[in-house]
Amino acid sequence: MSPMPLWVADLQKRRRGKILGREILFLESTDSTNRRAREEALCGAPEGTAVIAESQSGGKGRLGRSWISPPGVNAYFSLVMRPPLPPERVPQMTLMAGVSCAWAIGRVTGLDVRLKWPNDIFIGGKKAAGILAEMEGGNSPRQFVILGIGINVNWEGAGMPADLRETATSLRIEAGKEFDRAGLVGETMAELEKDYVLFREGGFSERMREEWTRFALGIGKRAMLTFPGHQLFGEIRGLDRDGALLFADLEGNTRRFTAGEVSLRFDPDPEKGFTAESAETAEKN
Ligand code: BTN
Repeated sequence: MSPMPLWVADLQKRRRGKILGREILFLESTDSTNRRAREEALCGAPEGTAVIAESQSGGKGRLGRSWISPPGVNAYFSLVMRPPLPPERVPQMTLMAGVSCAWAIGRVTGLDVRLKWPNDIFIGGKKAAGILAEMEGGNSPRQFVILGIGINVNWEGAGMPADLRETATSLRIEAGKEFDRAGLVGETMAELEKDYVLFREGGFSERMREEWTRFALGIGKRAMLTFPGHQLFGEIRGLDRDGALLFADLEGNTRRFTAGEVSLRFDPDPEKGFTAESAETAEKN
């Protein structure tokens, strides 16, 4: 374990919850806090164990992407969660985490935080934070979920790779000032814990669905939905009671999706025009 920097020691001191962050493993650098938290979970780390790193050399994003993780400016942490949850309900937990993060980041920064399905955190039209939930051992008593959160906190535009600047932002860029990472991560963990306790008891609630919808970007808007092997053009309709995305294709058929990615900025294929593709892996509503 690396010596804790002041901000992590401060986070530990100011922690308000009982579960999340009760054990903090700090690493100056690691490949991925999700990977490291998985190792800890396999060795029996209790629920709520947090792995925090100052930098990641192989930070993982959703859909096999990487998460660029320079030192000293941002927040990268992963939580070991042990919810008694069938694997098909893990997506609900990530929606919940998106809502918790949106509340916490909004409260700390005063910025207008939005969610793009399933749980990208957007500010000013660009991505400021992301969540990666990975489940292992589904349906076995030893199952766990690693909930990884990356927040671009004090990253300056000049430090970002040029191509990333087109689509990504940071709290500092948006607010024009720096933020204390201990306060931000502490608030995020506290909000997550509150929502998680309710989720564990009562599942994906109507209140959670409403909150997600309140933060959501693009409801009622034209969008492109990408899911394994397919692209579908249509309109985002919202979430159903189980947290699946309701997406209407151009023929007006609404289907539910629990995985994939939505794009609100896209160029329709000029060859094919703006057409719906078949959605073999989607369930009909
Ligand atoms: C995404 O939006 O694609 C998800 C990004 C998740 C990044 C975080 S940073 C901390 C944790 N460790 C990882 O390797 N990934 C997550």
